[in-house]
Amino acid sequence: MNSTKRFQLVPMPEVVFGTGTIAQVGERTAQLGSKALLVTGRGSLRQSGWLDRIVGDLVEHGVAVTVFEGVEPEPSLATVERGREMLREAGCDVVLAVGGGSSLDVGKAIGALANAPGTVADYHQGREITETGLPIIAAPTTSGTGTEVTPNAVLSDHERGVKASIRGDGIIPKVAIVDPQLTLTAPPAATAYSGMDAFVQALEAYTSTGANLVTDGLAAAALVHIGGSLRTAYHDGSDLCAREHVSLGSLLAGMAFASSRLGLVHGLAHPVGAATGEPHGRVCGLLLAHVIEFNMVAACEKYAQAARMLDITADPDDEVAAWQLHRWVVELVEELQIGTTLSELGVTEADLAAMIEPTISSSSSQHNPREVTEPDLWDFLRRML
Ligand SMILES: [Fe+2]
Repeated sequence: MNSTKRFQLVPMPEVVFGTGTIAQVGERTAQLGSKALLVTGRGSLRQSGWLDRIVGDLVEHGVAVTVFEGVEPEPSLATVERGREMLREAGCDVVLAVGGGSSLDVGKAIGALANAPGTVADYHQGREITETGLPIIAAPTTSGTGTEVTPNAVLSDHERGVKASIRGDGIIPKVAIVDPQLTLTAPPAATAYSGMDAFVQALEAYTSTGANLVTDGLAAAALVHIGGSLRTAYHDGSDLCAREHVSLGSLLAGMAFASSRLGLVHGLAHPVGAATGEPHGRVCGLLLAHVIEFNMVAACEKYAQAARMLDITADPDDEVAAWQLHRWVVELVEELQIGTTLSELGVTEADLAAMIEPTISSSSSQHNPREVTEPDLWDFLRRML
């Protein structure tokens, strides 16, 4: 092994992982502020009873709480603006985001832009965040995005039809509380979609041109935790052991790709998501086998290693092992009822032209193991219809 390789990792939050760790939310929040904006989604946290328990714990620790509920899937810039307004009116000094990837991304953006001038759209279009924001605590209720540890928040600008990230070190939460208990009530489809997102993130981190020795270790562990337990978590959502493995895998994948970046699945997922409104994880799962096939000429060895780590095969021939990974993914996607073609998401030939430029220019595509050229991408998309 060449031990002289150079690499740099992005900063990470303090991570509190494990069943029961959500009980620390009041104590942890009180260490960072006294007035919290609690950001969450459209009601599942309230229905599960967790919202009342979390608010109760915050109040018990002397933290005043303003609840910003109603973050939608694939959240908009307008939602972040509403949250910033509520935060200013209430004079909050800490942001606590609890929910799926959308709620966490909105909470992160509100916290990071709390003291920033201008509009959210300015930063979505590339303005650098120079003002220090508020401390952010993130507690995911799905195992998928890994956003509890990453320096970006994915938001949609519906006026411009653009789905993209705002990025910056200030977007990284101070603390990530990852309690697998919170995922027990996620329904099968949400479990499948978010779990496939996590699996794709692990595999794309592993094959990315930005991968290094540390991210490889994180991504490999993530693949094993997710690949070994996602089917069980999907079929029996109450299986806490399976939920723990998928939660940990999702977290590790987030820690890996925050530094290594991703690949073509994620390069395409934003324009496809913007065109269809389909959940990000479903889009990622649907694209994965096709992208493995596309990348086979460039990433065969890494795919083969992944197949052996997942215990799919012990075949020493890289090409044979890599294609067994491909078949395993095809079968997994079928079992999780994700779909296999872009037509199933409502995409037509007329939609493809608008997907080309954003895919090629995305940072994810630029870290894909095989270069993504315009003619190859046209060919790829036409075959996926
Ligand atoms: Fe993703």
